[in-house]
Amino acid sequence: MQLHAAVEVHPQGDELLLWHRWTGRCARVPRGLRPGHEALLRRLHMLEAAPLGELVPVRSRWSVLLPDRPALWHALPLQRGPGGFPFAELRLEDWQLDFLRGCNGARPLADLLEPERALPLLELLCGRGVQALRLQDGPVRASDPGPWTLSAPVRPPEARASHQRGDRGQTTLGRYHQEIRAEGHFDHRETTLAHAFAEPHPALGGRRYGQALREVLAPAPGQRVVEVGAGTGELARDFLGPGPLAYTRVDRSPELLAAQDLAAPGSRGLLGDALALPLRDGSVDLLLANEVLADLEASPELGDWDLRVEPGQALFNTGSFSLLREAWRVLRPGGRLWLSEFGGLDEQPTETRQLDHPEVSVHFGQLLQVALALGFSATVRPLSEVLGFDLSARWLSRPSWEAMRCLDPSLPARAWTARTVPRPERVEGLVDRAVTQDGPGPVVTRFWVLEARRPR
Ligand SMILES: C[S@@+](CC[C@H](N)C(=O)[O-])C[C@H]1O[C@@H](n2cnc3c(N)ncnc32)[C@H](O)[C@@H]1O
Repeated sequence: MQLHAAVEVHPQGDELLLWHRWTGRCARVPRGLRPGHEALLRRLHMLEAAPLGELVPVRSRWSVLLPDRPALWHALPLQRGPGGFPFAELRLEDWQLDFLRGCNGARPLADLLEPERALPLLELLCGRGVQALRLQDGPVRASDPGPWTLSAPVRPPEARASHQRGDRGQTTLGRYHQEIRAEGHFDHRETTLAHAFAEPHPALGGRRYGQALREVLAPAPGQRVVEVGAGTGELARDFLGPGPLAYTRVDRSPELLAAQDLAAPGSRGLLGDALALPLRDGSVDLLLANEVLADLEASPELGDWDLRVEPGQALFNTGSFSLLREAWRVLRPGGRLWLSEFGGLDEQPTETRQLDHPEVSVHFGQLLQVALALGFSATVRPLSEVLGFDLSARWLSRPSWEAMRCLDPSLPARAWTARTVPRPERVEGLVDRAVTQDGPGPVVTRFWVLEARRPR
């Protein structure tokens, strides 16, 4: 079987990656091509000259146009890092930009480009290192994942420091929190859902995350509210806005506490640990911890906690269970507890790999068991339901977000849309997606809330 001259062969382990330089289409086949592969390769036009003029150029979502340079701003698929793809500029001439503008996923190449100009441009745009364009046999369909995906190595894990793991194999973040620099922390190192939605957003009916949360919890004037792990104080600011509350923040990061002081004057900050709260027994009306549980110890050993364990369960949210015990101690009878985090009702706790510190998803079914066993009345619900997120609302798609973040590395990680995102220059081709799809922050449908009350 003779491959066409435009097909590159890249050995990868036991397989070969075949890449058509003019169509951007690829196939992964075992080494030593067998006749059985012929039909596939013929369908991908890898055995004889492709009918280029009849094929439909489809643009990847992983590149945008910068008409002022003029250039294509595209992901580098082969250089994927833990945080995503780097982007690079590919200088283009105006007619080449116009060609890309004309690619609507339905018009064939012959409609868009003279044949003599086609090959050099396709070589530029369809190569493995750019993947801005792919030539398909027919029009692209809405459900076609092609424009959204790149042929790229698996996203590599971020390195872990040895001090982030204790002697029992448990996650430990004490030193990490000591070393945090507040400036840009939630934009560049770990974006929380609350941070992404800390500006008014249509998904929350034009409110900020903290405003929506305050409306749900509706603390009475003068109530003693304690927020554990307040980040840069965005929730505290929103809680204090409408009226008087005795609002206390407990955090183990001195830098973040200082940022919270600035964001929420009128609240009190205490340096302390969520698992040994510097608070008197029965002194709190409402305790909340938004996106903190994943930071707390997760251990391969369950210890004394009496739980129904999932078959093969390798990690337990032991720190979150201890926080429940602390909450029971500091809440007054009738006091309320609100805990949100990513995880699932019956999903085994799993350590994230792309962050520079270990965070572990929460098994909310087990969290609920512990809360009930301690004596709380408690429920678990999806966060989107609790806060009334409009799941049909939109934000920047992940490819568009990564393109903009690489264009301006100081861009805050907010739930921008193509209309609202600040642009340092003209950018064409940004695309929004539903907030249930990957975007600038974590996806809301991954989050759950445990709401509990200490009986009177
Ligand atoms: C992921 S951030 C969440 C910040 C904020 N609540 C939000 O939703 O954007 C975790 C916060 O909890 C704090 N934190 C983590 N572990 C803690 C612990 N054991 N005791 C007290 N604070 C802790 C961190 O310093 C940080 O402020």
